[in-house]
Amino acid sequence: MKITVVGAGFVGATTAQRLVEKNLGEVVLHDIVEGMPQGKALDMMQSACIEGFDSLIKGTNSPADYEGSDIVVVTSGLARQPGMSRDDLLAKNAEIVGGVADNIKKYAPNAIVIVVSNPLDVMTYLVAAKTGFAKNKVMGMAGVLDSARFRWFIADELKVSPRDVDAMVLGGHGDDMVPLTRYSTVSGISIEALIPKDKLDAMVVRTRNGGAEIVKLLQKGSAYYAPSASTVQMVQSIVRDEKRVLPVAAYCDGEYGIKGQFVGVPAILGKNGVEKIIKLDLTNDELGQLQASAAHVAKSVSTLKI
Ligand code: LAC
Repeated sequence: MKITVVGAGFVGATTAQRLVEKNLGEVVLHDIVEGMPQGKALDMMQSACIEGFDSLIKGTNSPADYEGSDIVVVTSGLARQPGMSRDDLLAKNAEIVGGVADNIKKYAPNAIVIVVSNPLDVMTYLVAAKTGFAKNKVMGMAGVLDSARFRWFIADELKVSPRDVDAMVLGGHGDDMVPLTRYSTVSGISIEALIPKDKLDAMVVRTRNGGAEIVKLLQKGSAYYAPSASTVQMVQSIVRDEKRVLPVAAYCDGEYGIKGQFVGVPAILGKNGVEKIIKLDLTNDELGQLQASAAHVAKSVSTLKI
């Protein structure tokens, strides 16, 4: 397997590191900054004997090196600064990510693409439109991250292992994402039976602001440990054809009453990319929230110049 990571900033480099440490394939790390991806790749290769991986990683400034990629992960673009919403990044990142999409189309026409750049759902739409790839082969990473944040807050509140907590966050990767408490459990026990409603409501709000909380703490840049871990979980499910059921920004063609849009929904990820969107039974309120979030994404998409 050949996996290309575009953008060697914190998210891209940490993603590359996790990929080689898990021996998921040969990795190409691309960035426009000269020397930087090469330096990071060399540094990672020098950890191979200690960490015990034999996957190779190559740093490059040339998109021609995408050639033959099975998967391309797009992390390029600006990260949020304190006080900025993900939407504030739209115009600048559309320019950057649009250029990356052109390169993917040219050099890696058979790749499955996972978009990580913000605003996530909009950038995923842009990459799908610019590459013209089959809709199952383009997806965005956000639901796994948003759910992981919610899972950690639940585990921390109940003082249980994060591994025993499952949660589902749907919708766009924005302030109106939809954490589904009804579908969140601790070893099968509904969290609604374990956590009082007022506390749960506060955790939902904290999840929605999960990215901003970290941006505010870091002051410079945004989260990358959990975003890279989330991305690698998606890559692994595709590379190993694991058929994990994960919330991802997938192309909806009428599912949940959403048409022609990429938005966070539960999906099966396997060797063909998004192999199936799972239809959860939602209450009117949950469905309304999901559709409102999708409408927000659609509004931002309509400002794109493609
Ligand atoms: C976050 C940014 C990356 O949620 O969107 O941390």
